[in-house]
Amino acid sequence: MSAQRVAIVTGSNKGIGFAIVRALCKKFEGDVFLTARNEGRGNTAVNALEKEGLHPKFHSLDVTDQKSVATLVEFIRKEYGGVDVLVHNAAIAFKSADPAPFAEQARVTVPSNFTATIKLCESFLPLMRDEGRIAIVSSMSSTMSLKKCSKENQAIFKSPDLTVEKLVQKLDEFVEAAQTGAHIEKGFPGSAYGMSKLGVTAYTRILARKVQEMGKSNILVNCCCPGYVITDMTSHKGTKTPDEGAETPVHIALLPKGSKPTGEFFSDKQVRKWYS
Ligand SMILES: NC(=O)c1ccc[n+]([C@@H]2O[C@H](COP(=O)([O-])OP(=O)(O)OC[C@H]3O[C@@H](n4cnc5c(N)ncnc54)[C@H](OP(=O)(O)O)[C@@H]3O)[C@@H](O)[C@H]2O)c1
Repeated sequence: MSAQRVAIVTGSNKGIGFAIVRALCKKFEGDVFLTARNEGRGNTAVNALEKEGLHPKFHSLDVTDQKSVATLVEFIRKEYGGVDVLVHNAAIAFKSADPAPFAEQARVTVPSNFTATIKLCESFLPLMRDEGRIAIVSSMSSTMSLKKCSKENQAIFKSPDLTVEKLVQKLDEFVEAAQTGAHIEKGFPGSAYGMSKLGVTAYTRILARKVQEMGKSNILVNCCCPGYVITDMTSHKGTKTPDEGAETPVHIALLPKGSKPTGEFFSDKQVRKWYS
């Protein structure tokens, strides 16, 4: 087993995730895993970074496939014995022009972006080392979606006592309501992506609280918005390059020893109080 420090980045064959791996290869002292659900795309990405003189490692990972998550967890446990940095970046978004009905968009987006985040983080949590960092890439659309919720739903999502069970129940309610187009009437926003990311932002706070309650107060769990970044997801529109978009995720992934923020939402490297 290697005593080497290790960082893992999900969904990192392109876009912001790829740029996060590039930055971590430069700034993190230890092995950096570029992961991808498609091995070919993953290897191409690794080769591109090799050409820049960087040396990420590769492991396949589909964050929606629990077997794939378990395989990576087991590999890391055997090879490294623990994890120092987990950056969860992988996500999907339907394009605004996508003809898929809203019901389907909700049914696909919530498991991919929200449910997978919970399963991934819970699977890696036992491996997190002292001073470990869990950095989750959420989105400003989570806070925009919160504002579009009913007052009652807003109060639930903002509650400092919100449980993961209650949060999952609310996201299930959203998907169910979306099947009949009743989501707005039930106090939810009109964006499946925004709703999935609201789930992610609220979950970050719950996970941070759980880690504190486990007595692992030096493990920090935070999420962020990378900004409006020029990637495939945005059809190459945006105001930031992927490298610029990687800055805040990398900032929260490498918060120095003794840092305090946990359970927070960052943008432009600053804490934004989304729940007050
Ligand atoms: N771009 C923006 O302006 C913006 C703004 C706010 C938040 N974000 C967030 O930033 C993160 C990265 O977005 P991006 O703009 O870089 O998007 P992107 O270019 O579409 O890249 C998304 C990455 O996630 C991977 N992925 C998707 N589903 C996966 C799965 N089930 N398992 C493993 N990997 C999976 C994709 O792999 P494939 O190549 O195999 O599809 C790809 O590598 C996302 O969480 C996104 O929501 C982006």
